[in-house]
Amino acid sequence: MIGKLNHVAIAVPDLEAARALYRDTLGAEVSEIVDQPEHGVRTVFVELPNTKIELLGILGEHSPIAAFLERNPAGGIHHLCYEVDDILAARDRLEAAGARVLGDGEPKIGAHGKPVLFLHPKDFCGTLVELEQA
Ligand code: CO
Repeated sequence: MIGKLNHVAIAVPDLEAARALYRDTLGAEVSEIVDQPEHGVRTVFVELPNTKIELLGILGEHSPIAAFLERNPAGGIHHLCYEVDDILAARDRLEAAGARVLGDGEPKIGAHGKPVLFLHPKDFCGTLVELEQA
């Protein structure tokens, strides 16, 4: 059911520094910083030949990554995003299998302008999983 690895998201305490690290030290192509107020994060997209890295920084007081960064002050891998062809079919299949979809279970428009869902990390090997309809 799942397809390509769309991105690996890394939460970071200092987004400017992380952007410079990926650009200058790792020699990657990086985007400008984009504020995503509806998601409580600021993002930098790192384009790799086979996937993307999404660097996430805190935006605002109710950022969904604030607690994660408290537990991981140096930053860390926050989630993996897999592509699916049909996000509602994927959700129904996963819920039927007993997996928990976060929030109200309805897809939201994610950072790339496409419908996404998040799956409970306890149901997926301790990893927060995002599904994106490609
Ligand atoms: Co993501």
